[in-house]
Amino acid sequence: MVGLPARGKSFISQKSKYIESIKTFMWSIILTIFKSVVRYLSWLSIKAKSFNVGSYRRQNHKHPDAEFFDIRNKEGWQKRQEAAEQAVTDMMNWFSDEQGVVAILDATNATRERRDWILRLCRENSIEPMFLESWCDDEKIIKKNILDVKATSPDYEGLNQEDAYEDFLKRIAKYEENYEPLDEIASKDLTFVKLINVSQQVIINKIETYLESRIVYYVMNLHIKPRCIYLSRHGESMYNLEGKIGGNADLSERGFQYAKKLPELVKQLAGDDHQKLTVWTSTLVRTQQTAEHLPYNQLQWKALDELDAGACDGLTYEEIERKFPDDFKQRDENKYEYRYRGGESYRDVVIRLEPIIMELERQENILIITHQAVLRCIYAYFMNVPQEESPWMSIPLHTLIKLEPRAYSTLVQRLKADIPAVSTYKERGTSRLGEIEDANNKSKHLITGEPVSADHPLAIK
Ligand code: F6P
Repeated sequence: MVGLPARGKSFISQKSKYIESIKTFMWSIILTIFKSVVRYLSWLSIKAKSFNVGSYRRQNHKHPDAEFFDIRNKEGWQKRQEAAEQAVTDMMNWFSDEQGVVAILDATNATRERRDWILRLCRENSIEPMFLESWCDDEKIIKKNILDVKATSPDYEGLNQEDAYEDFLKRIAKYEENYEPLDEIASKDLTFVKLINVSQQVIINKIETYLESRIVYYVMNLHIKPRCIYLSRHGESMYNLEGKIGGNADLSERGFQYAKKLPELVKQLAGDDHQKLTVWTSTLVRTQQTAEHLPYNQLQWKALDELDAGACDGLTYEEIERKFPDDFKQRDENKYEYRYRGGESYRDVVIRLEPIIMELERQENILIITHQAVLRCIYAYFMNVPQEESPWMSIPLHTLIKLEPRAYSTLVQRLKADIPAVSTYKERGTSRLGEIEDANNKSKHLITGEPVSADHPLAIK
């Protein structure tokens, strides 16, 4: 990562006496991108990890002020260099000891000297470096970036907002003094991506491998506008009532009730944003019946169809256990990898969902109505759920989920309609349906996130 300066003179000059013409490192944007890239690659089973130099530095120097980042401050410079060395050492060890594939060195890497050092170490260790730079001259974005960093950086813990703001501006000015951006001529031998105003313009240089081009494509599709993603399974279906998997059944009576209630639930959870929604469904009847009363644009995706159970389509879990006992066991042992005879595994579903994720990243408010296995995979992407857990997550029927991606985490809310439905959850080691609940009557596998309060008119009673 390389932080690149941007100019935001007018609004900042009213705020700060230190900076005449400010250029800022787009930390929060870069952070959003890094976190997303690590999540995206991990979701695709590519081992990825981020090494944040700031957190190494904080181990020795918790709350530095701007002077610490002055190039003439010998002690500061040495501590920062030590932190970078520790991060790079750990990163190299991770590559060799843990067979890591993509590491992100999360630091400003603002000078050519620093980048040459990284380049040399990478080459010595047979690692292919790729630089990612964010440059910005859009005042709105700069302001948002500063507010985000000031509000959330652990460096400013306990400091009042105004002091944090002033100090952050001073720190940026210190960086600016010796900042050397990547440029197409001097850096022409480096592999790099340069984002201008997030992704308004993108310059790419020497992108040679498949993985590099995947990362570039992904990063180009990201945006930082606030938005929410709403997820729901279809209403209870006739197959759900019978405990059968797959198929293309109609909704049950309670399923139709859920479809009727969904517009109200959406308004409740989305507030004013509900007007800007687009609904995505699968091509199966039960998701379309569920979306029937929603007054928004709708789009059907084949890629959102339920996991294909192949030879087991239309059977109950009990029938599968009887007919295909070895397969039944194998699936319980490794549910993510197990592929139904003539059908799909969770891994297969993730691969076919990749274009959906890419499109979701480009879009703003979307409501997805789909199926149990598909929802688990989508949820796992946003919440960084590991593969061994994701196929076992509980995503009950008649529940609307709201995901709100933020720079530092994704917020989750669940709204359960007051309409009963069967459980389609099968625990490991049994063919019976239903979830084992803990002492507090809570499902062991329920996805994380805040349910709306119990006195909410739409909350489960
Ligand atoms: O039971 C509903 C259902 O959507 C089936 O159609 C599908 O095979 C199943 O859930 C997926 O869940 P699991 O992977 O836990 O069997």
